[in-house]
Amino acid sequence: MHYITSGDRHGLPIIFIHGFPFDHSMWEPQLNALPDKYYYIAYDIRGFGKSEGRDGINTIEQFADDLETLMKNLSMEKAVICGLSMGGYIALRFAEKYPQRLKGLVLADTRSEQDTDEARLKRAGQVKEISKSGLDDFVDGMLKAVFADKNFVQNISGIPQLKRVMLSHDPKSVKGALLAMAARTDTTPSLPDIKIPVLIIVGEEDKITPPESAQKMHGMIAGSELTIIPGAGHLSNMENPQAFNNALLTFLDKLS
Ligand code: MLT
Repeated sequence: MHYITSGDRHGLPIIFIHGFPFDHSMWEPQLNALPDKYYYIAYDIRGFGKSEGRDGINTIEQFADDLETLMKNLSMEKAVICGLSMGGYIALRFAEKYPQRLKGLVLADTRSEQDTDEARLKRAGQVKEISKSGLDDFVDGMLKAVFADKNFVQNISGIPQLKRVMLSHDPKSVKGALLAMAARTDTTPSLPDIKIPVLIIVGEEDKITPPESAQKMHGMIAGSELTIIPGAGHLSNMENPQAFNNALLTFLDKLS
């Protein structure tokens, strides 16, 4: 599994889980700006970036287990887990399965509900499209959906690099992750069991996991905080890094 680290190795550890279909580099606006006093780890999910994908057949369950293995390999007992979108689905399953490993949780542009039938059928269509024509059209459509319209039109910094990353993946892994997301469990019933500090972040123009989903999680996790990021879509950490980093840093400072 490929990962990068920055900051103080003895500081509070924060592990970043990227969204779909990206890699650890989507966290650059955080890794390049957050203060050195914490220890940051950003890794590539199995099959993405430089992490090996094998047959491409995956589950959110497997991704959560991979995170636990990563923590074991880093001799890390507890960490703050920060997951965006699919990274949030993994973080939520991880919180159910390995609650003792959590110091805090940051749920960015994600939701606890499983896919609706409509969403599953859309993913089935995307799998078919990728099998037939490769990643190009899929990536173009996805890029348009993840950014707030204004940011997409302005081609804000980070978009060309993100597109390169999206196109670099093995289509097998992309299709595998689509099926993994379609088959994921609903983590909503266990939200009230989360007893550690939780920060929920969402872009005000997120079309994929909209603010209503964030509000719902906020209502079900006692003591959780909710920050809505102005001028941002689904990739709020890239679209308005300053507001995202402020919210994250305030949360981490309280935790430590
Ligand atoms: C992501 O950003 O990880 C995906 O858009 C999530 C999803 O498709 O549900």
